[in-house]
Amino acid sequence: MKAQEFLFNSHGDSRGKLVALEEGKEFPFTVRRFYYIYDTLGDVRRGFHAHKQLKQLLFCPNGSCKLHLDDGREQREVLLDSPDKGLLLTGVIWREMYDFAPGTVLAVLASAVYDESDYMREYSDFAKYVKEHEEVYE
Ligand code: TYD
Repeated sequence: MKAQEFLFNSHGDSRGKLVALEEGKEFPFTVRRFYYIYDTLGDVRRGFHAHKQLKQLLFCPNGSCKLHLDDGREQREVLLDSPDKGLLLTGVIWREMYDFAPGTVLAVLASAVYDESDYMREYSDFAKYVKEHEEVYE
């Protein structure tokens, strides 16, 4: 699965901690959009889509949430529960976000501006797309 969980380098000293995210280091694309999800309710599940081209780096600067990932072959649950945990998504991956703790902010660096035509919002469309693009996708 083209999904990678990793820890950011956190520069900590007596004043606190600082995380820097740079193109070519923590994420392999130019950031064309930044957005964040907040004020979510704990029992809400959202996402329910996959992207054809978009690459994203996700992290929770505050709080925690879980992600259900599915690339059509493999499924994975990821917990983002610390500001120094990142999740890089570079493949065609169905994602659902859930278990948001109160006060959570889910931040996303994205490789393209918002484009609804890059979305697959029906699981059946995603499954069909993955099958049709299997060779590209290896
Ligand atoms: P939506 O895709 O439903 O969120 P989720 O990722 O949780 O499934 O997006 C919610 C609304 O925000 C929807 O009307 C589209 C809009 N939106 C933008 O305008 N720009 C963006 O960059 C994003 C991610 C969403």
